[in-house]
Amino acid sequence: MKKKITILPGDGIGKEVTTEGKRVLQKIAELFGHEFTFDYAAIGHDAIEATNNPLPDETLSKLKSTDAILFGAVGHPKYDNDPTLKVRPEQGLLKMRKELGLYANLRPIKLFDELLHASSIKPEILKGADILFFRELTGDVYFGEKGRKNNDNTAYDLMIYHRYEIERIAHKAFKAAQSRRKKVTSVDKANVLESSRLWREVVQQVAKEYPDVTVEHQFIDSAAMKLIQNPRSFDVVLTGNLFGDILTDEASQIAGSMGMLASASIGDTVGLYEPIHGSAHDITGKGIANPLASILSASLLLDISFGLKEEATAIIQAVEGVLRAGFRTVDIADATTPKDKMLNTQMMGDLIVKELSAIN
Ligand code: NAD
Ligand code: IPM
Ligand code: MN
Repeated sequence: MKKKITILPGDGIGKEVTTEGKRVLQKIAELFGHEFTFDYAAIGHDAIEATNNPLPDETLSKLKSTDAILFGAVGHPKYDNDPTLKVRPEQGLLKMRKELGLYANLRPIKLFDELLHASSIKPEILKGADILFFRELTGDVYFGEKGRKNNDNTAYDLMIYHRYEIERIAHKAFKAAQSRRKKVTSVDKANVLESSRLWREVVQQVAKEYPDVTVEHQFIDSAAMKLIQNPRSFDVVLTGNLFGDILTDEASQIAGSMGMLASASIGDTVGLYEPIHGSAHDITGKGIANPLASILSASLLLDISFGLKEEATAIIQAVEGVLRAGFRTVDIADATTPKDKMLNTQMMGDLIVKELSAIN
């Protein structure tokens, strides 16, 4: 198969982890006889420095003609520490999602058995947890009207959903549930928010088209609690942009670390694949970031955008193999991890590539 993949390393550890994600894709191409070509484009802080635009036109036009996108992360302490700055790295990511119509963000929460003890949650609560989040990605308070008034003494962000936005992601979630454990938990705040009442109404309607799928509705506050109390009770979780952002960072603790969670952003055009984590300023440049979220994002890319199931599975098996052999980056290590099994970012990439060769 001949495909073009555009890499957007972005900021901070985004650069470090996408290097490993790309190497894994190159290895897959070599082992399975594909021809993947790669190009790069700028987004985030670096793009602002060069062009004063977090998503330059040149980047956007490259993205519109590529077959798939592997994205790292954006964000920089300069902006996090100065809320008055008007041009910000995260705007590049949001604009990219909107421009490319990437309205469905799939965030699988997969606990590798080998990491059962890496989490701060008790193993007997965690074992077997397997959740697929559908986070709506181009609506909600992220994209509603925002502004300031009253001489900068008042600020607002409009939380807004349109029926069609809820319908299209709900269909995706119900379809996915049909080939899983046939349960959708829709999360909202319908006891307070009008936009959530529309959300619940539309999800109830869509649910009628999927009689084989059980639907339940939970409020965001209690869902946040139940996620940790009994993660196995969730199968597919369907939720809005803001609630999905927060709940999936929480759910990363079910998988052991932010460094383990991959995601796919899909819509009607090209697919974008990225870790759920950010640019992690606290560890940038130390070479210790866990690249597995990016590597697992590469697996989602092969599966969803290219339909290469065998190749996608090979990556997951390689990750399992390396974890089973006891190798860990610092975020997933525990007191029992021997010193000689502690890996930096590049060493983890090396081992996955080596493991891929061994199993194919
Ligand atoms: P973060 O996800 O960057 O980091 C949260 C914590 O998790 C940190 O302690 C970090 O060291 C750790 N962590 C994250 N990824 C890791 C990995 N691969 N391996 C090991 N540890 C990892 O969130 P934050 O600190 O709140 O945000 C930092 C910046 O990233 C901000 O500017 C924020 O806006 C941005 N951000 C971007 C994205 C994105 O581009 N998709 C997502 C979230 C945050
Ligand atoms: C994510 C991030 C982004 C979001 C930010 C950086 C805009 O937290 O991808 O989860 O809130 O969607
Ligand atoms: Mn987030």
